[in-house]
Amino acid sequence: MAEKNFMVRIQNLEKFFGEDRERVHVLKGVSLDIPEGSLYTFLGPSGCGKTTTLRCVAGLERPDIGSISIGGKTVFSAAERVYVPTNRRPIGMVFQSYAIWPHMTVFENVAYPLTIQHVNKADIKKRVGEVLKIVGLQGLEDRPAPKLSGGQQQRVAFARALVNEPKVMLLDEPLSNLDAKLREQMRFEIKALQRRVNITTIYVTHDQGEALAISDQIAVMHAGKLIEVGNPHQLYSRPKRRFTATFLGLTNLIPGKVVELGGDSKPGRLETSKGVFAFIPAAGLHAGGAAVLSIRPEHIEVMKQKPQVSENVLEGTVKEAIFMGDAYHCQIAVGDTLLRVHTHPFLTMNPGDKVYLHLDPQSCNGLPAEDTEGMDESALGA
Ligand SMILES: Nc1ncnc2c1ncn2[C@@H]1O[C@H](COP(=O)(O)OP(=O)(O)O)[C@@H](O)[C@H]1O
Ligand SMILES: [Mg+2]
Repeated sequence: MAEKNFMVRIQNLEKFFGEDRERVHVLKGVSLDIPEGSLYTFLGPSGCGKTTTLRCVAGLERPDIGSISIGGKTVFSAAERVYVPTNRRPIGMVFQSYAIWPHMTVFENVAYPLTIQHVNKADIKKRVGEVLKIVGLQGLEDRPAPKLSGGQQQRVAFARALVNEPKVMLLDEPLSNLDAKLREQMRFEIKALQRRVNITTIYVTHDQGEALAISDQIAVMHAGKLIEVGNPHQLYSRPKRRFTATFLGLTNLIPGKVVELGGDSKPGRLETSKGVFAFIPAAGLHAGGAAVLSIRPEHIEVMKQKPQVSENVLEGTVKEAIFMGDAYHCQIAVGDTLLRVHTHPFLTMNPGDKVYLHLDPQSCNGLPAEDTEGMDESALGA
């Protein structure tokens, strides 16, 4: 693999909480390399260990095993007994309850990390001015914090985290206190801000839409383990693991047995209770073995007439069709299986309609039937 500049390297992190019988294994060997300047997201369901991993990077938790380096400097190593305290790590943090101080103005809030370090007044003024400009709050220096909108308070929290010129920003569900509309709008803002400052950022969220929207790279986590790493496109269109396919967006799963793996741009063939399908196999499958076909609702083409081709075509009946404005979201019964299908709003769909479905072979991902423990190298992505 080509040499990259990694700003944060996490190796084989293990973390337990509690003692004796209460002891829980929360991180089970997490290893990650985070490229300099990237926006890197930890995504996974609640309780999978995202915050714990982030707090280990911040120095707010001590792992039991493993090592962490930031900017080439070891900040934690269990084996070498290295632990650099939080205030000496080059990080800025914005956490879920980003609590800016209500009794202070915008200026005082942002200046606070410098004030406690006794930086001289002129330097504080200059530096606060710079970061307020970066986040677009110049002119609001004297406004009391409670007189800000939710989005502005969020930006104050960012400015405060940036004011120390950290090498890495750590953001833990920073939008979760905002209402849905603002949250969606702030995605663009965070992404633009991160690009502008070009600062390596670790972003924690359980919201897959948010992760897809803002990330350069996403690390999908589940039960204290890393499942798969990739960019949003890769993970959405070519997941390597069943958990990734189901957690990131909506998908249909059809279990089967591999007849042929294909290769050299020739799709494989998967035998299922719905017939034999052409599909693209993920690493780790073998002929004769079990696999599950995963296809997203928007990759199933719906036709009212029987098509010429017969490969990857199914006959079904519309069970439910919900008009969503930009699409119909349908449940289509194929025998005893219900498939989720999104269709163009011009194609009027009514319950009871008989339809033909074409499952685009290039969008049929054959995945290992079960996610086995841990993650092999092939799932680590490029
Ligand atoms: N201080 C703690 N003491 C005991 N258990 C904890 C502590 N912090 C987190 N946990 C447990 O560790 C697991 C991972 O938590 P966390 O990292 O917060 O998950 P996430 O951020 O992905 O929702 C959860 O089961 C949680 O209950
Ligand atoms: Mg959390």
